[in-house]
Amino acid sequence: MKEFKGKVAVVTGAASGMGLAMASRFASEGMQVVMTDVEDGALQKAAAAVEAASRAAGGKVLAVTCDVANEQSMTDLASRAIAAFGKVHVLCNNAGVVRQGSAWDQSMDDWKWVMGVNLWGVIHGLRAFVPGMIAHGEEGHIVTTSSAAGLVASSSGSYTATKFAVVGMSEGLAAEMAKLSAGRIGVSVLCPGGVKSRIFESERNRPAALSEKGYIAPEVAATLSALAAPDRTDQVAPDYIAGLVVDAIRARQFYILPMQAHFKKSIHERLDALSKAVEAGPRTDG
Ligand SMILES: NC(=O)c1ccc[n+]([C@@H]2O[C@H](COP(=O)([O-])OP(=O)(O)OC[C@H]3O[C@@H](n4cnc5c(N)ncnc54)[C@H](O)[C@@H]3O)[C@@H](O)[C@H]2O)c1
Repeated sequence: MKEFKGKVAVVTGAASGMGLAMASRFASEGMQVVMTDVEDGALQKAAAAVEAASRAAGGKVLAVTCDVANEQSMTDLASRAIAAFGKVHVLCNNAGVVRQGSAWDQSMDDWKWVMGVNLWGVIHGLRAFVPGMIAHGEEGHIVTTSSAAGLVASSSGSYTATKFAVVGMSEGLAAEMAKLSAGRIGVSVLCPGGVKSRIFESERNRPAALSEKGYIAPEVAATLSALAAPDRTDQVAPDYIAGLVVDAIRARQFYILPMQAHFKKSIHERLDALSKAVEAGPRTDG
């Protein structure tokens, strides 16, 4: 997709961080943007600011409060988007939350919350929007926000599970789209390292029905408070990531991997170990 002006984008988790930056960049390209988030107050404020800043460029914004973890909420979102703008060209499945803790220490509520937003949210997004994107016949693009933690394990069992899952889903989706839409609908997976955002304040949007928290080991808690420190200087700005997303859509680039050197090193180590293990594994076809 080379031309953005007048096209329609849907961005989940658009009230903050990378989602807000993507929505803002799309609107400044003259797109019609559906900004959606579960945090209503922050969403309305963000949407008003994006609309005001992009008016001269022809950007239009529709703010829809929605819980990506809820299938009906996502189906309603798709109906609102179609009613307002007619069709959707760019889908950014971006909303996400993190809860630290080892797989066996996380509570069932920890697991359900993180899986609900980071994995089911993406599934709901694909189910609600992709059939319409295929049916209208125009160019489009699907971007899913995973993480460097989708390519190398992080300290959180649930976060790792969801972020690895959406990398695999995106790889499968890219192959399917290449066949199904003859390349008309592109696919990207965004796996950033550290980005300045409110991700370490995810609990602000945790549903009351999933409030039971699992154990976090003291050493993990210490790492977490360092990660959440407001004066960190090792993270990139969300606007920088949004620029990479726009470039990737234009260039039909699948992997978007902006990350700090230590993530790169860990990913290389994992891939080397995997490659050696594949080589050493017995062949089972004789
Ligand atoms: N910040 C980082 O360092 C980093 C690194 C890698 C990946 N990510 C991923 O980037 C994505 C965006 O996160 P961010 O870093 O901008 O954090 P953020 O907290 O600033 O933004 C996430 C947004 O998602 C929204 N959200 C949470 N639960 C939701 C729900 N149930 N339905 C709809 N919206 C919901 C939040 O209200 C928030 O506005 C997430 O998927 C996250 O996992 C972040």
